[in-house]
Amino acid sequence: MAEESLLDQLKESVQYIRNMSKMRPRVGITLGSGLSGFVKGVNVETIIPYKDIPHFSPSAVDGHPGNMILGRVGETPLVVLQGRVHYYEGHSMERVVYPTRVIAQLGIEKLILTNAAGGLDPNMKPGDLMLISDHINLMGTNPLIGPNISALGLRFPDMTAAYDRELIEIAATILRRRKICHSVGVYCGVTGPTYETAAEVRYLHMIGGHAVGMSTVPENIAAKHMGLRVLGVSCISNLATGLSNNSITHDEVKETAARVEKDFTDFLVELISGL
Ligand code: HPA
Repeated sequence: MAEESLLDQLKESVQYIRNMSKMRPRVGITLGSGLSGFVKGVNVETIIPYKDIPHFSPSAVDGHPGNMILGRVGETPLVVLQGRVHYYEGHSMERVVYPTRVIAQLGIEKLILTNAAGGLDPNMKPGDLMLISDHINLMGTNPLIGPNISALGLRFPDMTAAYDRELIEIAATILRRRKICHSVGVYCGVTGPTYETAAEVRYLHMIGGHAVGMSTVPENIAAKHMGLRVLGVSCISNLATGLSNNSITHDEVKETAARVEKDFTDFLVELISGL
């Protein structure tokens, strides 16, 4: 995609959204598999189906409705991406991160990326939350490959603070006070769509991973490229292959997410109200 045309597309998407809503969100949140119930905690102002937004790819995965929602949590103006597109669906990386780029252009300063992930640490239990301290990109590609668009960010972005320390501290304080079982750890981003083999799970744990999933890493990279502060939250929906006797299904992933919905929503409402 030529430099000008991606910028032109972003402008068109942003213009469409601004025509639908005058709200100027300060915070963005992307909701992962089965986690879209969080919108019950939002004072919704406008719902825009992805299919109506110019240049958006509709999300096709079960458990991922495709809507952009503008609203408030407490006093904080917020934009929600209810559902995401994944690399394994066959979209290019540029398309995978396109919604993240659009909400950055809407003016958000902070982005919360949520996902369902497999736990690599035998001490984890399905339903635990993990605050992402860092990631390992194992997708074999990077959304910034190609000509750099200097209007969006640097050619070689620094990833020292890929996940914002202060946001992790604030989130951890809330989770502790609410007695919600959580840890802080490293997220391994893989392409999927297969779940991992037992040997892959041993490898991921050995190289320093605590959770594994098929999203979040590209969006984090695009967000850092554009200078956003990012918080990542994984809902540990299952123990990764080899760590439990059950085989993994997408239904299990969604069921666990549904079970933690209330804690997850209450935590995020408190967090976002204070941002
Ligand atoms: N592996 C990869 N992605 C996932 C998993 C998993 O075990 N659970 C939810 N998303």
